[in-house]
Amino acid sequence: MSQERSKHGTVIVGATSAIARGIARACAERGDRLVLAGRDLDECERIAADVRTRFGVESFAVRLDVEDMDPSAFVQACAERLEGAIDRLVLSQGFMAEQSDAQGNPALVARTQTVNLTSVIQLCEAFVPHLRVPGGMVCVVSSVAGDRGRPSNHIYGSSKAGVNAYLEGLGPRLREQGVGVLTVKPGFVDTAMTWGLPGMFLVADPQDVGNSIVRAMQKRRHVIYTPFFWRGIMLIIRSIPGAIFRRLSL
Ligand SMILES: NC(=O)c1ccc[n+]([C@@H]2O[C@H](COP(=O)([O-])OP(=O)(O)OC[C@H]3O[C@@H](n4cnc5c(N)ncnc54)[C@H](OP(=O)(O)O)[C@@H]3O)[C@@H](O)[C@H]2O)c1
Repeated sequence: MSQERSKHGTVIVGATSAIARGIARACAERGDRLVLAGRDLDECERIAADVRTRFGVESFAVRLDVEDMDPSAFVQACAERLEGAIDRLVLSQGFMAEQSDAQGNPALVARTQTVNLTSVIQLCEAFVPHLRVPGGMVCVVSSVAGDRGRPSNHIYGSSKAGVNAYLEGLGPRLREQGVGVLTVKPGFVDTAMTWGLPGMFLVADPQDVGNSIVRAMQKRRHVIYTPFFWRGIMLIIRSIPGAIFRRLSL
C-alpha cells in the first residue's frame, strides 16, 4: 500500500451511493475507520464488510433515513462507534426526480429539497460541534447542476445551489477552528441516479470520482469540480449572460 495509514474517523452518509462506495474504498485504503450510513442497513453492512476485508480497517454500518431522522441521535451513534474521534463528515445522499415529474408535484419537490438540501444542513449543524479540532472536515457531494438554473433540471439544481451557498458560508465560519469544508461538484457520473438518462456525455467512473474527492480532502481543498475538466465547462456556462442563457433550451 502506497499511502500513509491515516486512522481518520470518517462518517459517510448515503453510503450505498456509487460515488460514496468509491469514497469509502479510497478512505479505507488510507486506513480510515468508517461509519457507513444509509437507509438500506443490509447493503451498508455488506459495504462495511467489503472494506474491512480488503483494507483491514474498522468499519461500522448504521441505518439512517435522512427524510426521517434525529440528527443528534445519529451523531451519538457515530461517536460511540468511533470512540468520540470523528474527523470527517462526508454527505453523499441525493435524490433526483425527472424534472417533468417534479413539476407541480409538491411531494417530489419536498423530497428533492429534504434529501439534497435540508438534511445536509441539519447533519452539518449536528456534527460540527463534534468534529475533531483542528483538522476536522465536512465534505458534501453537490453538483454542477447548482451552478446555473436550467429549465430541464432546475428543481434538483435549486437544491444543489442551496447546498453550495450554505457551504460557502460554513467554510469561513469554521476556519478559525481549523475545520475544513469541501464542496464537490461532479459532472455526469455513471451511477443509479443517471442510469438511462438521455443527453449524458463525458460520463465519469464513480471510483475515479471517489478517489478525486478523497485526494481533495487530503489537500484540504474548498471547492472541486470532478472530473477536473468540468471546472472549464462550468466557467464557460457561468459566463454566458443571462439574456442569452434564458434563450438556450438547456
Ligand atoms: N450521478 C451523477 O451524475 C451525479 C452528478 C452530480 C452530483 N451527484 C450527486 O452525487 C451524490 C451521490 O449520488 P449517486 O450519483 O452516487 O447516485 P445514487 O447511487 O443514486 O446515490 C444516491 C444515494 O442517496 C441515498 N438516499 C436517497 N434518499 C435517501 C434517504 N431518504 N435517506 C438516506 N439516503 C438516501 C441513496 O440510498 P438508497 O441506496 O437507499 O437509495 C443512495 O445511497 C448525490 O448527492 C447526487 O446528487 C451525482
